[in-house]
This record gives sequence, C-alpha cells and structure tokens, in this order.
Amino acid sequence: METDIFTKVDHYIAGLVAHEGPHLTGATALIRAAGLPDQSISPVQGKLLQVFARACQAKRILEVGTFGSYSTIWLAEALPKQGRLITIESDEIHAEVALENIQRAGLQERVTLKRGRAMDVLNTMIETGEAAFDLIFIDADKPPYTEYFQAALRLSRKGSIIICDNVIRNGAVLNEASQDEKVKGVQRLNAFLKDCKEVTATILQTVGVKEYDGMVIAVVN
Ligand code: DHB
Ligand code: MG
Repeated sequence: METDIFTKVDHYIAGLVAHEGPHLTGATALIRAAGLPDQSISPVQGKLLQVFARACQAKRILEVGTFGSYSTIWLAEALPKQGRLITIESDEIHAEVALENIQRAGLQERVTLKRGRAMDVLNTMIETGEAAFDLIFIDADKPPYTEYFQAALRLSRKGSIIICDNVIRNGAVLNEASQDEKVKGVQRLNAFLKDCKEVTATILQTVGVKEYDGMVIAVVN
C-alpha cells in the first residue's frame, strides 16, 4: 500500500524530470535479457546523480561497481564533452553487458571500464597518483564498502562528492545482530561515517520503484 504510492509518485517524478532515453531503456532491456538481477538505480536516482555531477561541475567521475552500466550512462551524460568517467567492474558478464550498453549509448570515448577487483583497481590508482575525481559513486559489493569509501577519500579533493548506494537495505541496518554480510558491510560504513572528520555527510532514504533503501551523500572537507 505504502510502496504502491511510492511507486506511483516515482513514476510521476520520472515523467516530469527523469525521462530516460531509448539508450537507457535499452540498457535495462539488455541487463534483463542477460538474466541479471533488477538492481540498477532508478531513473529518478539517475537524475539525482546528474544533479550532483552538474552541481560540482564534474569533469572526472569514478564509479565503483559498473553492473550493467545503467548508472554509468546517467553519470557520463552529465559530463562535458571533454569529461571522463572511469568505472570498475570485476564480474565478466556484467562487464560485457556494460560495454555493449556504453557502446550503444555512444559513450565509449568518455567512459573507461576497468576490469578487476575494485579494491585492487582502487589501490593501483592511488599508487600511480591518479588525479582526484570530482564525484565518486560507490555501488559495488557491500562487505568492503568502508574500504571503498576510504579509497574514495584518497582519490578525491576538498569539495569532491561521494555517493554510496544501498546503505539502508530495507531498514535491515537497524538490526545490530544481522548476520547478512551485505547488511554488516553497510552498517560498518555508516558507523565509520559517524566519526569521520574528512567529510560532511548525510544518508538520504530512498523510496520509489526500487526497494526501500538509502544513499550516503558526502562532500569532502
Ligand atoms: C544489491 C546491490 C545493489 O547495488 C542494489 O542496488 C540492490 C541490491 C544486492 O547485492 O543485493
Ligand atoms: Mg545499488
């Protein structure tokens, strides 16, 4: 009942300000056709990412966890022509679907997909002195979320925005005795943020066409 109104209102908002083009609808279709789960962000969330990318005039974006590149496309389309997005994916099937979707969206010039374990790729970028990113979106496997966030801090500068998907998990984060590794992973990140002096952060609850969840929205101090 409640979720029904959230879904209807989400469609209403999408109809106003988060209309997805055929390349995004097509990306979702390819993700489904590949038998992958329905865990991309929603159109309204994609638009939220674009709003943040524009607000910080992002020219360099990092995404941790490409999945089928649905969010990658929203983010890349908020970049200026010379802007660049690096997205990291460890799963071979996800990466193949993602590359096809990036190609079909005509974003192959702007987007670089790095294959490999996110932590390895992030550490390599830190070690090789990768320039700071203006916006970092973390939406990968949940157990190492804290480590991804810490790596994101090292790949950012004052004013960079860091956004993390799925940190409320249908409210399961309230269960301190949870044995779910995904829940434990995001609980650990949320607790880390409590005392983290390096960012000004909040957690935005997210409702709509997706499961009830939440996103960390942080700006680097
Ligand atoms: C899961 C991961 C996601 O990134 C998401 O948005 C929803 C669910 C998951 O692994 O369960
Ligand atoms: Mg997610």
